[in-house]
Amino acid sequence: MRRAIYPGTFDPITNGHLDIIERSARVFDEVIIALLMNIEKKPMFSMQERVEMIRQVNRWKHVKVDTFQGLLVHYAVSQKAQVIVRGIRAVSDYEYELQMALMNRRLEPSLETVFMMSAEEYSHLSSSLIKEVFMLGGSITGLVPQVVEERMRSKLSG
Ligand code: PNS
Repeated sequence: MRRAIYPGTFDPITNGHLDIIERSARVFDEVIIALLMNIEKKPMFSMQERVEMIRQVNRWKHVKVDTFQGLLVHYAVSQKAQVIVRGIRAVSDYEYELQMALMNRRLEPSLETVFMMSAEEYSHLSSSLIKEVFMLGGSITGLVPQVVEERMRSKLSG
């Protein structure tokens, strides 16, 4: 049983994230999308909203959604996962991801970090860029699932 954790902030989930989830779902027996409860960041969407949106777009039975706080490696061990999945876009992601992967390995040598590349059309996407473009009136159609776009629109009008 190969269980992978796909951790992140997912504020909100993008088509780039979904692409990584789909790839992970093909490789692992179970994937847990794990949202970090980060009290320092000021997110656009509450934890509950982010979880709901991910559940709405999740079409795989063996992909679950969960939240965690504290160290990722502690959470991964508690879930009996062997792998942490991270998506890598451009080379610029690599340095930070390498730091995290090596620190996580030092903290918990039994866990392996696996980097995955999303489809090229999503390789420039980030949740923060999408929020900025949307807030300034740009189109984000095709970059996030429809349900996310709708939620963003209602957030703006509300
Ligand atoms: O989507 P993000 O914001 O790039 O995800 C970052 C995340 C949640 C994977 C990272 O911040 C994390 O694992 N935080 C949990 C705390 C932790 O374990 N810190 C040490 C990392 S080496």
